[in-house]
Amino acid sequence: MEILKREPVYVSGESISKELNISRTAVWKHINKLKKEGYNISSFTNKGYRLINGDDMLTPEAIGYDKCVYFDEVISTNDEAKRLAENGCDSGTMVTCCLQNGGRGRLGRQWKADNKSVCTSIVLRPDITPVYAPMITLIAGLATAKAINEVCNINAGIKWPNDVVAEGRKLVGILTEMSAEMEKIKYVVVGIGINVNNEVFADEIKDKASSLYILTGKKQSRRDIAAALIKQLMELYNLYIDKGFAAISDEYNRLCLNRGKYVKTVGSLEISGLCKGVDDEGRLIIETADGKIEKVFTGEVSLRLSDNSYI
Ligand code: BTN
Repeated sequence: MEILKREPVYVSGESISKELNISRTAVWKHINKLKKEGYNISSFTNKGYRLINGDDMLTPEAIGYDKCVYFDEVISTNDEAKRLAENGCDSGTMVTCCLQNGGRGRLGRQWKADNKSVCTSIVLRPDITPVYAPMITLIAGLATAKAINEVCNINAGIKWPNDVVAEGRKLVGILTEMSAEMEKIKYVVVGIGINVNNEVFADEIKDKASSLYILTGKKQSRRDIAAALIKQLMELYNLYIDKGFAAISDEYNRLCLNRGKYVKTVGSLEISGLCKGVDDEGRLIIETADGKIEKVFTGEVSLRLSDNSYI
């Protein structure tokens, strides 16, 4: 325990065994004993052991959500969630992890994360036709923005459809994947990656990304963020299932950073004009220069400001 408390990083089994002059098997046995005593120690292949403090814990008990399935280390929480969904798990099942080491982003990109991020995926089984699935993505963006604003006391907004952004930089990425038949959704997996206590970013994203730590100058609690997120997401999702997107669109529009700005869409459809927010079906409303109102579904296009900037 002294060694683990002294080192805020991973300590290899080998260095513990050398320092204590005991075998690696003995180290492993001691670690298991400490775990049984209730200490939260994560063990990662090739890295060793690390004591996890309460603020970092994402277990069902820590976040107070019993439909949560926790892993120390996963390749992708979306993949785990899909596996659980295929095996018939309940709607609302949440997958959390201490470390995601092969996360997937949109458009086949990678999502790099470490044990300072929150990486989670939620399985939902809405009784709607697949064309309405993009609304789940909007709901996930709104729930995440609300959760981090509440826990970290900031003013993050949403870049349509679901990038959560503050001070012009992206804090959150959301990847929604679906399994459906022609008329019926089998399940939707909403994968959410939040940059929480990250201090550095890879070169290719360092000008666009930020973290809650960088933004607030304070270490933030992954546990509190994950707990607030699942609460917000399930509340908004149930509201949507009961009353439709119309019950949520005003709140979405209040946080929508594109609203009131000149935007253009990039993709299969090219429209530019003044963004008026989203309508009651989650479509983006754009008023073109000749006064025409155009409505765009998520998935069809991505959005830029008129001068090509991100937000
Ligand atoms: C994006 O490209 O902006 C979306 C990134 C989504 C990343 C999250 S992290 C949790 C979940 N698991 C994954 O493999 N991806 C999503």
